[in-house]
Amino acid sequence: MTANQTATFINHPNLKVLLSEEQIQNRVRELGEQITRDYAGKNLELIGVLKGAFVFFSDLIRHIDLPLSVDFIGISSYGASTKSSGEVKITKDLDKSLAGRDVILVEDIIDTGLTLNYMMTNFQSRDAASVNIAALLDKPERHQIEVPAKYIGFTIPNHFVVGYGLDFGERYRNLPYIGMPENPDELFK
Ligand code: IMP
Ligand code: MG
Repeated sequence: MTANQTATFINHPNLKVLLSEEQIQNRVRELGEQITRDYAGKNLELIGVLKGAFVFFSDLIRHIDLPLSVDFIGISSYGASTKSSGEVKITKDLDKSLAGRDVILVEDIIDTGLTLNYMMTNFQSRDAASVNIAALLDKPERHQIEVPAKYIGFTIPNHFVVGYGLDFGERYRNLPYIGMPENPDELFK
């Protein structure tokens, strides 16, 4: 937020801009162009992981200049006791079969890596021709397991972030930038 801006929900002084709207849009365009080159002539299917990836997903597909189809998968972590296993519950499964499709799994962030690791294993049993990962953000310091992500938007430090799809208590997904709360206790729940 600059000095002459009024504090609003989106332009809140507690939110430091880690990645601006312009930085994100430029990088998402580059990723779309890279995917366009890599997937020419393939049977491309993009799968968004709900909910966090939905903003990144909708911008990304508009920079892929190829025929493609989309689907979504909803997941939630099991209780705290099993969380470290990365076992997740599928709350909304795919609508269609992946047989023969060249799949890109689109996620908001790789934190511990456990969710995407589980998803990759799950997708291997679905007969896709290929599966790659596109993640907007990556926090390498937090990895517990390494997932082979082919497309990464930005590598970020070990800080909790919100915006551009990522939430805190289901809020903040509507920020057009990635923000870092100066004081996480003051986040609006
Ligand atoms: P992982 O299984 O630990 O890699 O992370 C899975 C999920 O945790 C991500 O898809 C996000 O929904 C959430 N997450 C991880 N780090 C953050 C963050 O900094 N802000 C908001 N959500 C996060
Ligand atoms: Mg998520």
